[in-house]
Amino acid sequence: GIALSAQASSDSASSGAAADSLVFDPDGYTKLTTTVTDTDGTDHAVTYHFWKAITYVAHPVDKTYQSLNVSVPVEIDGTAVDASDAPILFANSVGGYMPSSVADATGIGGAGMAGGGAPGGTPSGSAAPSASAPGANGNTNATGGALNSNQLLALAAGYVVVEPGARGRTLKNSGGEYYGTAPAVIVDLKAAVRYVRFNKGRIPGDVDRIVSAGTSAGGAVSALLGASGDSPLYDKYLKELGAADAGDAIFATGAWCPITDLDHADGAYEWNWGTNVTQSTGKVVDQSVSKDLISQFAEYQASLHLKGLNGFGPLTARNLDDYLVQQYLEPSATRYLTDLSDSDRATYLAANTFITWKNGRATFTWADFLTHVGARKKTTPAFDAFDLSAGENNEFGAGTTEARHFTSYSLKHDTTGSAGTRLDSDIPEKLRLMNPMPFLAGKANPGRSKHWWIRLGTKDSDTSLTVSANLAAAAAGLGDEVNHLYYWDQGHGANTDPGDFIKWIAKVTG
Ligand code: DHB
Repeated sequence: GIALSAQASSDSASSGAAADSLVFDPDGYTKLTTTVTDTDGTDHAVTYHFWKAITYVAHPVDKTYQSLNVSVPVEIDGTAVDASDAPILFANSVGGYMPSSVADATGIGGAGMAGGGAPGGTPSGSAAPSASAPGANGNTNATGGALNSNQLLALAAGYVVVEPGARGRTLKNSGGEYYGTAPAVIVDLKAAVRYVRFNKGRIPGDVDRIVSAGTSAGGAVSALLGASGDSPLYDKYLKELGAADAGDAIFATGAWCPITDLDHADGAYEWNWGTNVTQSTGKVVDQSVSKDLISQFAEYQASLHLKGLNGFGPLTARNLDDYLVQQYLEPSATRYLTDLSDSDRATYLAANTFITWKNGRATFTWADFLTHVGARKKTTPAFDAFDLSAGENNEFGAGTTEARHFTSYSLKHDTTGSAGTRLDSDIPEKLRLMNPMPFLAGKANPGRSKHWWIRLGTKDSDTSLTVSANLAAAAAGLGDEVNHLYYWDQGHGANTDPGDFIKWIAKVTG
């Protein structure tokens, strides 16, 4: 596994260590080759330059995480390519709000979570990774091979690929202080973007065409990176780290199953999955808690003042079910069924009689859809657990406190006895810094990304299906370009159309 080598506190790091140079060394690469299997099954021989573990801030707290890798294609299928002005895929490998390091990677796509075991990578002459095989390349992070596919396909398309590491929630220094909890992950990713922009002309690629990608917690921070571009709210944190003097706005955002809008995620979750049994117990959760949370969500949803895509009108807790069914779920099932052979479709429809298939279109009710999905993954509340056991409680830890409540409701129902009677005073700011929605549905952030690729599996109950839909509606409401689809019957972390993502990058950056 990857050794945890974290000791410095932010205090000692910013006052003590000599500043790292933020000037990228154009000659500091190794030359590697890999074979990328594209989504048509065609193999491509790619030679690329690989820069490894470059610290992206002048005063790092922990270089193991605050470093990035750069991959630049120089020859594809025997033809020289010039990536000087190519789009830059900025692919994080954050999962579970855990630390993510690229420091031990030996080639593109080799990032893993802390303790996640074998770094992957593709040194020259090693076995070829396959972009179409999940888990290829030895990647053992929470999101399987999905990100590898994006990264390898991007490389084979001639794009520059930047893979940033970032601090995560479990990191603790020798003084027992948590230094990777919120907002560390987004501050680090912004610092990494600033490093890339600062090195315009030294790092190959067009710094005005940075496209972010991430899955799950990585999708959340990718969406946040896109929404919060150039926001001054992060300045003091970036300054502390000695981030490069450059902007952190990105051009486009890719987010797969973003686990975001955490302040409202408990209510959204109950609104969606409240009556489904829980995977671990086979029983429904406490329905009075569930109903309390749903009514909070209804208020929140109304306060967003979002309109649905395609003229749906105001989105409310009363009509979101119809909206999800019409806008996303039925079209998703329709695409899935259309692509099946006649006999496979007949088999699927016989096993799933809740679907009406007529004139090449699938229709069904929300209630039947929920039954079809079956057990929900999480108990209630899904994110701010009464006993502080959720990963998100740790994400909002601070100082020597490992886990904290971040909603008043869960604080009130705390079962640990150690949580006090009020939310800690820094919690509202941390929530604000971690949530893309206020940058889109509130006062629109002018520095936000204007292109959005959002994907979510219909069987993904890691968060509510409304989270992605609201994100999409908020961005579209500002006039941004939004490409949002749900993958039928896919679970958490799915990425079944990476080739389309690569084509979308070409289109929006072209
Ligand atoms: C992830 C999954 C979760 O269920 C969650 O609450 C946070 C993050 C993830 O896979 O990254």
